[in-house]
Amino acid sequence: MISKGKAKWGILGTANIAGKALVPGIRDSKNSELYAVGSRAGSKAQRFAEKFDIPESYGSYKSLLDDPKVEFVYIPLPNHLHHKWTIESAKKGKHVLCEKPLGLNSKEVREMFEVADEHGVKLMEGFMYRFHPQVLRVKELLQEGEIGEPTFFRGAFSFPLVAQDREDDIRWKKEMGGGSLMDLGTYSVNTVRYLFDEEPNRVFARDRKHSDHSAEAETQAILEFPDGKTATLDSSFLLSKRANYEVVSKNGRIRASNAYGPGQYKRLNVEIEQDNSTVIETLEGVNEYALEVDELVNAVSKDRKPMVTKEDSINQARVLDAIKQSAKEERWTEV
Ligand SMILES: NC(=O)c1ccc[n+]([C@@H]2O[C@H](COP(=O)([O-])OP(=O)(O)OC[C@H]3O[C@@H](n4cnc5c(N)ncnc54)[C@H](OP(=O)(O)O)[C@@H]3O)[C@@H](O)[C@H]2O)c1
Repeated sequence: MISKGKAKWGILGTANIAGKALVPGIRDSKNSELYAVGSRAGSKAQRFAEKFDIPESYGSYKSLLDDPKVEFVYIPLPNHLHHKWTIESAKKGKHVLCEKPLGLNSKEVREMFEVADEHGVKLMEGFMYRFHPQVLRVKELLQEGEIGEPTFFRGAFSFPLVAQDREDDIRWKKEMGGGSLMDLGTYSVNTVRYLFDEEPNRVFARDRKHSDHSAEAETQAILEFPDGKTATLDSSFLLSKRANYEVVSKNGRIRASNAYGPGQYKRLNVEIEQDNSTVIETLEGVNEYALEVDELVNAVSKDRKPMVTKEDSINQARVLDAIKQSAKEERWTEV
């Protein structure tokens, strides 16, 4: 149930992405309002609330969850805390939008949904790119058979985190679920599973560390699908900025660049190349974060599955598990 009027959201943690994307996202959403923020430190919560004009602030995540007015919780905590705080939120009857990757592994993700189901609340993984017209257009082109049967996907997501100077960056910390695969590669995994509408049955991967950090700095993986389709993907904190993919058939290819934000109202291209010609379509920008917020609230009010489903997130985590295991054992691994 949601109270009359707009759904009230609380944010756990004063994360970078919360200020940059979800505060404007909730503001731009049709059905939501930003009501509270909680932080490990009361002073931080207060500063964040003042900066973004949020009515309530709490000096702990627990006290935010104790507020009965909070109906929806957004969780942009470090990856190793997604499981705990999603479960705590669900136990308090709150619906949850939790950042990607939903858990550290598929066991965690299953448990998160079990508790959400037990307490009658909805949980959705925050794959905002799935709401952008760019990927929706690629999906539509494939469904319409624009390039015939696609048999190959190549995905790349990288940027030189090694050159950034953010002290104590959670993305470099293995114990916090950091690493390029969990931060970036997860998007490519999700995109190929979504566009092929299939699950890979085995994977081969290798990864590499940076000498100063505990989490893996780059991963390359091959995914094999049961009907012979293949994907290759790479994620890296060492390479230049790329966020693109292409889907290829014997007739041509569809290519999408700059696919994974973050940024609101980005006009993005889809390139369709076949018969020695290239057509470029430009898709209008949207606030994909506002759309994911709307989607979760609509799913609750209509009691239906949200667009990023439980099955999707569990299968997603199973593929990530297999990629990590393959890289560790240096062999093909069943999903
Ligand atoms: N969808 C997207 O576009 C997108 C983009 C970037 C990141 N993300 C995801 O969003 C999540 C957060 O990423 P971020 O880069 O925004 O993180 P961040 O700026 O480092 O923020 C994480 C927040 O978690 C809280 N926290 C609790 N325990 C912590 C600990 N032990 N160490 C550090 N922080 C702790 C802190 O808030 P308090 O101190 O206030 O409690 C901190 O502000 C990750 O899951 C990431 O994968 C998504």
